[in-house]
Amino acid sequence: MGSGFSFSAMAVIVFLLAVAGEAEINMVFYIHDNLRGSNVTAIPVAGLNGSSSNAGKFGTIVTISDVITRRPQITESDSDNIVGRAQGTYVNTNPVTGLDFLMVMTIVFQDMEYNGSTLEIQGTDRFTQPQREFAVVGGTGKFRLARGYAIASTEALSSPNSIIKFNTTVQI
Ligand SMILES: *[C@@H]1O[C@H](CO)[C@@H](O)[C@H](O)[C@H]1NC(C)=O
Ligand SMILES: *[C@@H]1O[C@H](CO)[C@@H](O)[C@H](O)[C@H]1NC(C)=O
Ligand SMILES: *[C@@H]1O[C@H](CO)[C@@H](O)[C@H](O)[C@H]1NC(C)=O
Ligand SMILES: *[C@@H]1O[C@H](CO)[C@@H](O)[C@H](O)[C@H]1NC(C)=O
Repeated sequence: MGSGFSFSAMAVIVFLLAVAGEAEINMVFYIHDNLRGSNVTAIPVAGLNGSSSNAGKFGTIVTISDVITRRPQITESDSDNIVGRAQGTYVNTNPVTGLDFLMVMTIVFQDMEYNGSTLEIQGTDRFTQPQREFAVVGGTGKFRLARGYAIASTEALSSPNSIIKFNTTVQI
Protein backbone atom coordinates (compact mmCIF):
# COMPACT_ATOMS: atom_id res chain seq x y z
CA MET A 1 0.00 0.00 0.00
CA GLY A 2 2.33 2.71 -1.24
CA SER A 3 1.57 6.20 -0.08
CA GLY A 4 2.63 7.70 -3.38
CA PHE A 5 -0.22 6.07 -5.15
CA SER A 6 -2.22 8.18 -7.56
CA PHE A 7 -5.96 8.05 -7.26
CA SER A 8 -6.24 8.61 -11.00
CA ALA A 9 -5.11 5.03 -11.43
CA MET A 10 -8.57 4.05 -10.26
CA ALA A 11 -10.18 5.95 -13.10
CA VAL A 12 -11.66 8.54 -10.85
CA ILE A 13 -13.18 11.60 -12.35
CA VAL A 14 -14.35 14.41 -10.13
CA PHE A 15 -16.76 16.94 -11.54
CA LEU A 16 -17.58 20.02 -9.55
CA LEU A 17 -21.26 20.65 -9.67
CA ALA A 18 -20.96 24.38 -9.41
CA VAL A 19 -24.44 25.34 -8.33
CA ALA A 20 -24.96 22.79 -5.60
CA GLY A 21 -21.35 22.79 -4.46
CA GLU A 22 -21.41 19.02 -4.76
CA ALA A 23 -18.84 16.73 -6.29
CA GLU A 24 -19.58 13.73 -8.46
CA ILE A 25 -17.07 10.93 -8.17
CA ASN A 26 -16.82 7.93 -10.46
CA MET A 27 -14.74 4.95 -9.44
CA VAL A 28 -14.33 1.43 -10.67
CA PHE A 29 -13.35 -1.39 -8.36
CA TYR A 30 -13.49 -5.17 -8.29
CA ILE A 31 -14.92 -7.30 -5.50
CA HIS A 32 -13.38 -10.76 -5.11
CA ASP A 33 -15.99 -13.11 -3.66
CA ASN A 34 -14.32 -16.37 -2.68
CA LEU A 35 -16.61 -19.06 -1.31
CA ARG A 36 -14.02 -21.77 -1.96
CA GLY A 37 -10.26 -22.18 -2.23
CA SER A 38 -7.31 -20.97 -0.18
CA ASN A 39 -8.53 -17.44 0.46
CA VAL A 40 -12.14 -17.84 1.52
CA THR A 41 -13.75 -14.45 2.21
CA ALA A 42 -17.43 -15.40 1.94
CA ILE A 43 -18.99 -17.92 4.32
CA PRO A 44 -22.56 -19.20 4.50
CA VAL A 45 -23.69 -18.61 8.08
CA ALA A 46 -27.32 -19.64 7.94
CA GLY A 47 -29.64 -21.60 5.74
CA LEU A 48 -31.26 -25.02 5.57
CA ASN A 49 -27.97 -26.73 6.51
CA GLY A 50 -26.55 -24.02 8.75
CA SER A 51 -23.02 -22.97 7.87
CA SER A 52 -22.69 -25.82 5.37
CA SER A 53 -25.58 -24.38 3.34
CA ASN A 54 -25.08 -23.88 -0.35
CA ALA A 55 -24.88 -20.19 -1.27
CA GLY A 56 -26.72 -21.07 -4.46
CA LYS A 57 -29.83 -22.18 -2.59
CA PHE A 58 -32.80 -19.99 -1.68
CA GLY A 59 -32.64 -18.59 1.82
CA THR A 60 -28.92 -19.01 2.45
CA ILE A 61 -27.24 -16.05 4.14
CA VAL A 62 -23.57 -15.46 3.34
CA THR A 63 -21.35 -13.12 5.35
CA ILE A 64 -18.54 -11.52 3.37
CA SER A 65 -15.32 -9.63 3.93
CA ASP A 66 -14.26 -9.62 0.30
CA VAL A 67 -11.08 -8.01 -0.95
CA ILE A 68 -11.58 -5.01 -3.25
CA THR A 69 -9.01 -4.15 -5.88
CA ARG A 70 -8.67 -1.42 -8.45
CA ARG A 71 -7.54 -3.82 -11.14
CA PRO A 72 -9.40 -7.04 -11.93
CA GLN A 73 -6.69 -9.52 -10.94
CA ILE A 74 -4.92 -9.94 -7.60
CA THR A 75 -1.22 -10.56 -8.03
CA GLU A 76 1.24 -10.77 -5.19
CA SER A 77 3.65 -8.11 -6.48
CA ASP A 78 0.80 -5.70 -6.94
CA SER A 79 0.38 -4.39 -3.40
CA ASP A 80 -1.12 -1.01 -4.33
CA ASN A 81 -3.94 -2.86 -6.05
CA ILE A 82 -5.93 -3.42 -2.85
CA VAL A 83 -8.45 -0.70 -2.09
CA GLY A 84 -10.23 -2.15 0.93
CA ARG A 85 -12.90 -4.66 1.84
CA ALA A 86 -16.55 -5.24 1.05
CA GLN A 87 -18.11 -6.25 4.36
CA GLY A 88 -21.70 -7.35 4.75
CA THR A 89 -24.09 -10.08 3.80
CA TYR A 90 -25.96 -11.42 0.85
CA VAL A 91 -29.10 -13.50 0.96
CA ASN A 92 -30.19 -15.88 -1.78
CA THR A 93 -33.64 -14.58 -2.73
CA ASN A 94 -34.56 -16.69 -5.76
CA PRO A 95 -36.40 -19.94 -4.92
CA VAL A 96 -36.44 -21.03 -8.58
CA THR A 97 -32.98 -20.35 -10.02
CA GLY A 98 -31.04 -19.53 -6.85
CA LEU A 99 -29.32 -16.78 -8.79
CA ASP A 100 -30.64 -13.59 -7.15
CA PHE A 101 -28.86 -12.20 -4.11
CA LEU A 102 -29.91 -9.31 -1.90
CA MET A 103 -26.61 -7.62 -1.06
CA VAL A 104 -26.17 -5.24 1.84
CA MET A 105 -22.57 -4.21 2.20
CA THR A 106 -20.20 -1.55 3.40
CA ILE A 107 -17.25 -0.67 1.22
CA VAL A 108 -14.48 -0.01 3.75
CA PHE A 109 -11.68 1.92 2.08
CA GLN A 110 -8.22 1.14 3.45
CA ASP A 111 -5.97 2.86 1.00
CA MET A 112 -5.54 6.18 -0.76
CA GLU A 113 -7.30 9.37 0.15
CA TYR A 114 -10.48 7.59 1.22
CA ASN A 115 -8.78 5.44 3.89
CA GLY A 116 -11.25 5.00 6.74
CA SER A 117 -14.23 6.28 4.78
CA THR A 118 -17.07 3.95 3.81
CA LEU A 119 -19.83 3.62 1.25
CA GLU A 120 -23.12 1.79 1.86
CA ILE A 121 -24.26 -0.20 -1.17
CA GLN A 122 -27.36 -2.33 -1.37
CA GLY A 123 -29.60 -3.97 -3.94
CA THR A 124 -30.35 -7.21 -5.69
CA ASP A 125 -27.60 -8.91 -7.61
CA ARG A 126 -29.46 -10.68 -10.43
CA PHE A 127 -26.54 -12.81 -11.36
CA THR A 128 -27.85 -13.86 -14.76
CA GLN A 129 -28.08 -10.26 -15.95
CA PRO A 130 -25.01 -8.82 -17.66
CA GLN A 131 -25.47 -5.56 -15.73
CA ARG A 132 -27.04 -5.02 -12.32
CA GLU A 133 -27.71 -1.67 -10.69
CA PHE A 134 -27.26 -1.07 -6.98
CA ALA A 135 -28.14 1.93 -4.85
CA VAL A 136 -25.46 3.81 -2.94
CA VAL A 137 -27.53 4.75 0.08
CA GLY A 138 -24.98 6.58 2.18
CA GLY A 139 -21.47 6.76 3.48
CA THR A 140 -19.17 7.96 6.22
CA GLY A 141 -16.03 10.06 6.46
CA LYS A 142 -15.39 11.70 3.09
CA PHE A 143 -18.60 10.08 1.85
CA ARG A 144 -20.94 11.56 4.45
CA LEU A 145 -24.37 12.16 2.94
CA ALA A 146 -23.30 10.38 -0.26
CA ARG A 147 -25.88 9.08 -2.66
CA GLY A 148 -25.49 7.40 -6.01
CA TYR A 149 -25.55 4.16 -7.89
CA ALA A 150 -23.29 1.35 -8.96
CA ILE A 151 -23.42 -0.74 -12.11
CA ALA A 152 -22.16 -4.23 -11.44
CA SER A 153 -21.08 -6.88 -13.92
CA THR A 154 -19.39 -10.25 -13.61
CA GLU A 155 -15.75 -9.80 -14.54
CA ALA A 156 -14.75 -13.41 -13.94
CA LEU A 157 -16.48 -16.53 -12.69
CA SER A 158 -14.88 -19.67 -11.36
CA SER A 159 -17.96 -21.02 -9.69
CA PRO A 160 -18.68 -20.53 -6.88
CA ASN A 161 -16.00 -17.80 -6.76
CA SER A 162 -16.49 -14.61 -8.70
CA ILE A 163 -14.95 -11.24 -9.41
CA ILE A 164 -17.58 -8.52 -9.72
CA LYS A 165 -16.81 -5.17 -11.31
CA PHE A 166 -18.50 -2.19 -9.66
CA ASN A 167 -18.68 1.04 -11.63
CA THR A 168 -19.80 3.44 -8.92
CA THR A 169 -20.99 7.01 -9.23
CA VAL A 170 -21.58 9.04 -6.09
CA GLN A 171 -22.44 12.62 -5.29
CA ILE A 172 -21.14 14.07 -2.06
C1 LIG B 1 -4.21 -16.03 -1.30
O1 LIG B 1 -3.73 -14.87 -0.68
C2 LIG B 1 -2.31 -14.87 -0.54
C3 LIG B 1 -1.93 -13.63 0.24
O2 LIG B 1 -2.56 -12.48 -0.24
C4 LIG B 1 -1.70 -14.89 -1.93
O3 LIG B 1 -0.29 -14.93 -1.81
C5 LIG B 1 -2.18 -16.10 -2.70
O4 LIG B 1 -1.73 -16.04 -4.03
C6 LIG B 1 -3.70 -16.18 -2.71
N1 LIG B 1 -4.12 -17.43 -3.29
C7 LIG B 1 -5.11 -17.48 -4.19
C8 LIG B 1 -5.45 -18.85 -4.67
O5 LIG B 1 -5.70 -16.48 -4.58
C1 LIG C 1 -28.32 -29.50 2.49
O1 LIG C 1 -27.54 -30.67 2.48
C2 LIG C 1 -28.05 -31.69 1.60
C3 LIG C 1 -27.21 -32.94 1.82
O2 LIG C 1 -25.85 -32.66 1.68
C4 LIG C 1 -27.98 -31.17 0.18
O3 LIG C 1 -28.48 -32.12 -0.71
C5 LIG C 1 -28.81 -29.90 0.08
O4 LIG C 1 -28.67 -29.34 -1.23
C6 LIG C 1 -28.35 -28.89 1.10
N1 LIG C 1 -29.24 -27.74 1.08
C7 LIG C 1 -28.79 -26.49 1.15
C8 LIG C 1 -29.84 -25.44 1.11
O5 LIG C 1 -27.61 -26.21 1.24
C1 LIG D 1 -5.22 3.83 6.85
O1 LIG D 1 -5.60 4.23 8.15
C2 LIG D 1 -5.11 3.36 9.15
C3 LIG D 1 -5.73 3.76 10.48
O2 LIG D 1 -5.80 5.15 10.61
C4 LIG D 1 -3.59 3.39 9.15
O3 LIG D 1 -3.09 2.50 10.12
C5 LIG D 1 -3.09 2.97 7.78
O4 LIG D 1 -1.69 3.08 7.73
C6 LIG D 1 -3.71 3.81 6.70
N1 LIG D 1 -3.34 3.26 5.40
C7 LIG D 1 -2.92 4.01 4.38
C8 LIG D 1 -2.59 3.29 3.14
O5 LIG D 1 -2.82 5.22 4.46
C1 LIG E 1 -18.43 3.56 -15.86
O1 LIG E 1 -19.72 4.04 -16.17
C2 LIG E 1 -19.70 5.27 -16.88
C3 LIG E 1 -21.14 5.71 -17.09
O2 LIG E 1 -21.84 5.65 -15.89
C4 LIG E 1 -19.00 5.07 -18.20
O3 LIG E 1 -18.91 6.32 -18.85
C5 LIG E 1 -17.60 4.53 -17.96
O4 LIG E 1 -17.01 4.23 -19.21
C6 LIG E 1 -17.65 3.28 -17.12
N1 LIG E 1 -16.28 2.87 -16.79
C7 LIG E 1 -15.86 1.62 -16.91
C8 LIG E 1 -14.42 1.38 -16.62
O5 LIG E 1 -16.61 0.70 -17.20
